Amino acid sequence: MTDVLIAGGTVIHHDATERADVLIRDGRVADIAPSLARPAGAHVIDADGCWVGPGFVDLHTHLREPGREEAETVASGARAAAVGGYSAVVAMPNTEPAIDSAMVAQFVLDRGRDALVEVAVAGAITVGRQGTHLAPIADMAALGVRLFTDDGTGVQDPLILRRALTYARPLGVTLAEHCEDEALAAGGVMNEGHVSSRLGLSGRPALAEELMVMRDIELVRLTGCPMHFLHLSTARSIDLVRKARADGLPVTCEVAPHHLFFDESVCEHYDALFKVHPPLRTRGDVDALQAALRQGDVDAVATDHAPHAPELKDLPFDDAPPGMLGLEHAASITRGVMGDDPIGFFRALSRGPAAIAHLRARDERPRHTAHGGDVAVGEDANLVVFDAADTYRVERHGLQSRAHNTPYDGLELTGRARALVVRGIPRLDQGQLT
Ligand code: DOR
Repeated sequence: MTDVLIAGGTVIHHDATERADVLIRDGRVADIAPSLARPAGAHVIDADGCWVGPGFVDLHTHLREPGREEAETVASGARAAAVGGYSAVVAMPNTEPAIDSAMVAQFVLDRGRDALVEVAVAGAITVGRQGTHLAPIADMAALGVRLFTDDGTGVQDPLILRRALTYARPLGVTLAEHCEDEALAAGGVMNEGHVSSRLGLSGRPALAEELMVMRDIELVRLTGCPMHFLHLSTARSIDLVRKARADGLPVTCEVAPHHLFFDESVCEHYDALFKVHPPLRTRGDVDALQAALRQGDVDAVATDHAPHAPELKDLPFDDAPPGMLGLEHAASITRGVMGDDPIGFFRALSRGPAAIAHLRARDERPRHTAHGGDVAVGEDANLVVFDAADTYRVERHGLQSRAHNTPYDGLELTGRARALVVRGIPRLDQGQLT
């Protein structure tokens, strides 16, 4: 394995920053010092002016394999992740068939072995994500699956969710909920409010999300099992999580980059690129999510990267599937919110999500390395070099993802990954896949 020297950057520790070079040997960090000599034959990554920190971890990636390979595959999604600066992603289970058994989980894990970044898997909570019968959570946990969710929808029946939480607790795994009460959200295609009324589109009310957050917090209180809240989109949802945490409950939450960036007004042109569940909300919600992220009340930015084939996304707003791409631009959006706070930036994109997804420990999952930890001698070399000042224009046809449904097309964004090292191997350098 070739030595790698990351030279000239600023290392971002969890509580401090340090101007230092980083030497990587045999997949681990071998040395950190202000100025290291270049070992003969080493691959040198120029990190001048850049932040060097743990590779980003995406808790929430739809890789679409098996079943929807026309939109994304494990390999193409992993390429998009590498361009975005991610060293690990968690593949969501709303595939076809769903990842609701050890067999399908193993299939995706096997596909991930050849991918550019590490691929962990989230298993479904219920069989077929139908919400009626518990999936074999213990069988999947035995393979190293640590996160379980029916994402795409939440578990609607509180009795099923109570059973899942009770069952999951001794296994040491975390349940993650897509919070939307489907009865209340039924038929809605965008945020319910005066914008939806004006456009003549039916709404998904904020309360559909908030009611489920309330219900789930109470089920966590009852069972003591940890719960992670996926893509929270309203100010009140975040407040509910804040209060639950103050009560000492084991709850965490994420926000998606699109909810940090766009409000509902972008739906005005009926472009289904902006259709997503939960929907884009009000400007007040966007401001509240941004403030909560800066304050450290949000544990992670997670992409909800949701590739869809053009023939589906080009349908009328009412008929198109919800979801938008995120992996290649989430770090730029996060940079925009966090400003010049690299410690908070790495907390949101790497250290926070890695802890929630149980990716911090090297040995917890078979044949995986540790992510989101310290940049320290002996640690697995999963590192990103991020140029916080790089301004670029998004071009939807220049993406690594198979799909093109990015909401950022044509926009100028600032901050992007210059280089990425996964398990000691450079996967991205000078912004190009190696
Ligand atoms: O908009 C969404 N799309 N929200 C989800 O939760 C699922 C996702 C998808 O899989 O397309």
